[in-house]
Amino acid sequence: MTFDRSIKIAPSILAADFANFGAECAAIEAQGCDWVHVDVMDGHFVPNITFGPATCAAIRPHIKGIMDVHLMIAPVDSYIDAFVEAGADIVTAHVEAGPHIHRTLQAIRAAGAKAGVALNPATPASSVTHLLDMVDLICVMTVNPGFGGQKFIHSQIEKVKTLREMIGDRPIHIEIDGGVDVTTAPLVAAAGADVLVAGSAVFRGGSVENPGPYGTNIAAIRAAAEAAR
Ligand code: DX5
Ligand code: ZN
Repeated sequence: MTFDRSIKIAPSILAADFANFGAECAAIEAQGCDWVHVDVMDGHFVPNITFGPATCAAIRPHIKGIMDVHLMIAPVDSYIDAFVEAGADIVTAHVEAGPHIHRTLQAIRAAGAKAGVALNPATPASSVTHLLDMVDLICVMTVNPGFGGQKFIHSQIEKVKTLREMIGDRPIHIEIDGGVDVTTAPLVAAAGADVLVAGSAVFRGGSVENPGPYGTNIAAIRAAAEAAR
């Protein structure tokens, strides 16, 4: 994985057809997405359950590009190797998921993946000050994690600006997750984000049989973000 700050659209398969993940991943890639965002939920750290490493491994052969795995689970450390073995290129853990996020990030890199850290809306940017030399990505949650289709939380834009300043020249992506669409993408792109996760706003109106709308949606979010930079 090479680093650059171009706008990257990462559709969340939380909004895809759960009975057809392989074809859905192929469809969004064919329609121009950059990364595929995979939301893992445990019903404990967040009030919803999705799937685990076996599903990630099953999806992997259907993704040509980057598989971006967002772990909304606690504890997290004991599962890192399984998600890296399942083929995750990036593994993101929440700073709130346990007392030892520093150890978690070390373990992700040691397992051979890029390390991401995610911040819930109530968690300040300062919580990652001492982690900047060990992360490849900071994910700013712009909804409370657990469900797709929620409303974007505007107070997070200030946090994105703060993080962008903190990062400086370091090769660290700022990813936005939750409520991203054509109206909110420009706000976070202007604030310094480069990776935009979008579930409902990408999958809306399309399907594996009719994937055209995926492409239209991806292109519209990308154009809105790029115009705001
Ligand atoms: C929320 C997930 C998000 C979610 C985004 O807990 O981490 O990735 O699927 O969905 P939308 O874009 O619908 O807000
Ligand atoms: Zn996510």
